Amino acid sequence: MSRPLEISHLVKRFGGLTATDDLSFVVEQGQSVGLIGPNGAGKTTVFAQIMGEYRQNSGTISLYGKDISRDSTPERIRQGVSRTYQVPRPFAEMSVLENIRVGRMPNNLWQMIRRNPQREKEVELALSVGFSAADFHKIPGELSMGDLRKLEMARTIATGTSVMLLDEVFAGLTVAEIAQIAALIQQMRNDGMTFLIVSHDLKALEPLVDRVIAINYGTMIAEGSFAEVLSNKSVRSSYLGVA
Ligand SMILES: Nc1ncnc2c1ncn2[C@@H]1O[C@H](COP(=O)(O)OP(=O)(O)O)[C@@H](O)[C@H]1O
Ligand SMILES: [Mg+2]
Repeated sequence: MSRPLEISHLVKRFGGLTATDDLSFVVEQGQSVGLIGPNGAGKTTVFAQIMGEYRQNSGTISLYGKDISRDSTPERIRQGVSRTYQVPRPFAEMSVLENIRVGRMPNNLWQMIRRNPQREKEVELALSVGFSAADFHKIPGELSMGDLRKLEMARTIATGTSVMLLDEVFAGLTVAEIAQIAALIQQMRNDGMTFLIVSHDLKALEPLVDRVIAINYGTMIAEGSFAEVLSNKSVRSSYLGVA
């Protein structure tokens, strides 16, 4: 079987700044890979290019062996890749269940969705990420940060994704909320989901990843097991601020 995700010689420039600099890596089937690096290293920019939110200057992105580099974002989602955002982006005026419903139909207009509700599916997804029935009709403004992250995860799962990109998935969470999201990721790993996870919380990240890629200035500085990468000299000086 071809690899879920393969990035090859990716370059992205913003004016004079090279945010992604000849970056290549692969994520194998069912693997969970951590993507780490200091602020501004280019992690989110990589996600944005995988999703087609930014177009790369050169290089390719392949999903299951097919070059998706020129596909629209909805086409990429249909082919099995989806992401969450550093700052959760729910539809503010919609309930938990309605937000999940939109995730299930990324290409449809809200009017069409309204005529076509499949409430059982949304309920099932909401429960699977840890919501209780009392939360179903809350709007995002009524949710804690932990619940907003759960909602981001549910919307991503709802797209039918098999490759999940999680951006700063533990940011702003309490210890208890981190444990909940981590348990959810573990459960999805057991179910065969392929992950690329950006996290500054290395303690939370460690048990969730098979492998880690460290980048700085858009380029790879280390790759290997969590222990290998975290003991790498350039990772320690650029990221951890220790020599
Ligand atoms: N839309 C943009 N326009 C200009 N510069 C950008 C844009 N997005 C990101 N950058 C720059 O690209 C670099 C990488 O940013 P980003 O991918 O957000 O880093 P990270 O997620 O690792 O913190 C930073 O220097 C940032 O300022
Ligand atoms: Mg970022």
